[in-house]
Amino acid sequence: MKVVKTPKGWTPDSWRAKPALQQARYPDQEALASTLGQLSTLPPLVTSWEILSLKEQIAEAQAGRRFFLQGGDCAELFSECESSIVANRLKVLLQMSLILLHGLEMPVLRVGRFAGQYAKPRSEDLETIDGVTLPSYRGDLVNAAAFTEEARIPNPNRLLEAYSRSAITMNFVRGLVDGGFADLHHPEYWDLGWVEHSPLAEEFHRISHSIGSSVRFVETITGRTPGSLKRVDFFTSHEALHLEYERALTREVPRQWGHFNLSTHFPWVGLRTAQVDGAHVELMRGIRNPVGIKVGPGMSGGEVKDLLNHINPDNEAGRVVLIHRLGADAIESELPGLIEAVKTTGSPVLWICDPMHGNTEKTSNGYKTRQFEKIQYEVEQAIDIHHKMGSRLGGLHLELTGENVTECIGGARRLDETDLLTAYKTTVDPRLNYEQALELAMLVVKKHRSIA
Ligand code: PEP
Ligand code: CO
Repeated sequence: MKVVKTPKGWTPDSWRAKPALQQARYPDQEALASTLGQLSTLPPLVTSWEILSLKEQIAEAQAGRRFFLQGGDCAELFSECESSIVANRLKVLLQMSLILLHGLEMPVLRVGRFAGQYAKPRSEDLETIDGVTLPSYRGDLVNAAAFTEEARIPNPNRLLEAYSRSAITMNFVRGLVDGGFADLHHPEYWDLGWVEHSPLAEEFHRISHSIGSSVRFVETITGRTPGSLKRVDFFTSHEALHLEYERALTREVPRQWGHFNLSTHFPWVGLRTAQVDGAHVELMRGIRNPVGIKVGPGMSGGEVKDLLNHINPDNEAGRVVLIHRLGADAIESELPGLIEAVKTTGSPVLWICDPMHGNTEKTSNGYKTRQFEKIQYEVEQAIDIHHKMGSRLGGLHLELTGENVTECIGGARRLDETDLLTAYKTTVDPRLNYEQALELAMLVVKKHRSIA
């Protein structure tokens, strides 16, 4: 096996010499420095062995032996760090993973977009309403969404608040997962209140009963209860956007070489900050975590190749996940060239599809939404195109919630523009609701079966 080492010229601060896009401007630099000092001494949110275990599982997914499911809110909110919201989000991810593992007949790697998804990139630094111009809202990590000067000034105390709320979320998720909430003997525990009213309820219950009886069958013939049936693994992820925050949690640990980003298991670089010579890619280049990179319309095969050579020069397995988010209209023209380019590198990437961010639109009544049909189309195209090119779509990256919201149009209940008025709650991007998320998982299974 190749020995991988910290890359030449990299230090946890080498990003400071590179252009850093999308960073908040703090008026009080002294307060910022003092907060970062505190952050850098607080315990990590995740451990190096969890990170290395995720990396091994991503390597297995790259080899076609696992499916990768990543999902959660576009932006977590401090005000939504509450038990039912966290538990419901976990439930919908568990249910989707059940549908996928049953239908694809392979283990599912579950990664939440939570416990740290508090920073958002914005297309504009400033926002103007009725002649008043203020800094844009950059996520609860930086400022508040209310359109007042006080709310919008970047406040360093929010870094500690985000750290604390990530820790609280993480603690609750770990408790649930370890405490039998994710016990495969009882998938019915994962039901959300509204499942029985869903047009998909029957199919979901058929799958969950079939899993319950398979588990009991294995136990009967082996006479044992494998521990892995009582709990499932859950990993966390967020966009590594706020460089000072990520830096404060990038550390060495005892008995391991190199540095780990200990704020999350799986940081990803967003589309707006994925420049090969930029600060974000530089910070990710030297850490040992697996890293996601968003790939969007207009990105050339050459650019993706440069990114791979830069972030994973030794072609280490499990290190890179490419998250394409091309949109239903561009996927057919853009994806084949990217797949071709990546093949020439010999780099063992995991390709996953984010069918959300290329399909955002505004309705005539002014809501930011996404059409379920376009999301479905992009995922189905992704499966087909990878398959035709001898590659494989190994996972999904979704914005979803366990709440009964109406933010995306379409799906089994055929939500339309007027339905958006009933439960539109997101402050940033529209999310799949519980039913739409389950439906998408079922459609992925159908599509995979059609090409298998
Ligand atoms: C996101 O995942 O929330 C996001 C902003 O995506 P992208 O960087 O792909 O636009
Ligand atoms: Co988003």
